[in-house]
Amino acid sequence: MTLNELKAAAVSMLDRAYCPYSHFPVGAALECADGTVFTGCNIENAAYPVGICAERTAMSKAISEGHRDFVRIVIAGRSEDYCVPCGMCRQFMKEFAPEIEVVCLNGKGEAKTFALAELLPYGFDHSFL
Ligand code: THU
Repeated sequence: MTLNELKAAAVSMLDRAYCPYSHFPVGAALECADGTVFTGCNIENAAYPVGICAERTAMSKAISEGHRDFVRIVIAGRSEDYCVPCGMCRQFMKEFAPEIEVVCLNGKGEAKTFALAELLPYGFDHSFL
């Protein structure tokens, strides 16, 4: 899948977001090393902390289907600023893909790309245990 196709997949997930509390839809498209793509959206809950972000939805879908080798993830929002992953998602992604490329889109579809290590310096991993 090209980067533009991956971006389009993330953007298309914005309509699936369940965000009646924040009204802040997020879509994600995660590309595996073998080319498989898993998508996700944020899914909120009346008990607020129970909600899950788009990135963790996509990565959980992938892992539960047997995929653990990830290359890049596109995160789409509708806001003016780039939709960057929250701290919990950064840590979650680090577990499986410390070198993943994170492509963040704003509402205009413009992209800003980061290495996860830039977004989460000194993140916790198994080496501390
Ligand atoms: N959200 C995501 O889906 N991904 C992020 O990394 C940032 C935040 C969602 C969670 C919540 O449903 C809404 O955006 C507002 O925080």
